[in-house]
Amino acid sequence: MGSLIKRLRIGLHRNLIRFGIDVRKTRPDRKLLEQVVFPEILRTPQYQHILFVGCAWYTLHYPQLFHGRDFVTMEIHPDEAEYGAANHIIDSCENIANHFQPNTLDAVVFNGVYGFGLNELEAINKTLAAIHQSLRDHALFVFGWNDTPETAPYRFEELTGLNAFAPYVFPPINTSIHESDTKNRHRFHFYRKEIS
Ligand SMILES: C[S@@+](CC[C@H](N)C(=O)[O-])C[C@H]1O[C@@H](n2cnc3c(N)ncnc32)[C@H](O)[C@@H]1O
Repeated sequence: MGSLIKRLRIGLHRNLIRFGIDVRKTRPDRKLLEQVVFPEILRTPQYQHILFVGCAWYTLHYPQLFHGRDFVTMEIHPDEAEYGAANHIIDSCENIANHFQPNTLDAVVFNGVYGFGLNELEAINKTLAAIHQSLRDHALFVFGWNDTPETAPYRFEELTGLNAFAPYVFPPINTSIHESDTKNRHRFHFYRKEIS
């Protein structure tokens, strides 16, 4: 997108979404995230302290959706901070443990970050360990990724940081793994931290 057209499109989205008018073109995986995952988080009172990793113009209204919750965003690129929450952290998700006390977060939504900048295996597993540490017992972890050679450079088994989590059958869709988009092979894996 040319930068002027992009700015116009972002401005349009920013101004119209507050009236419920969505000018974005959304794929099935985004619909699943916004129409199934987010509502479930919002209808669950136990999910108060939420971390959303990775921001982009098309996520700029997410803080508004989570109005009333402690919704924190984190993004490595300073330029994307304008799309983050009031409580926004500019840092790599590898450093989550520097920003949150252990056992404090109720939910982490980690969608489209693995393979979209977070590409080194060591950094991925360090991130997963930090997320696990920061979540409280029975907290929710949503891991969204695209299972294509370009965006998933490692075998899934190599993401060993995931082994610390317990698969969680996500109530609205009754499964712990959901392939939401056959074209980009976007998958959601749902986990819980279970220490007891
Ligand atoms: C494809 S976008 C996904 C945005 C959003 N999470 C979503 O659900 O669509 C990927 C974002 O992750 C960010 N990102 C990549 N590596 C990161 C890292 N190590 N720490 C934090 N954010 C990172 C990128 O800068 C980019 O804005």
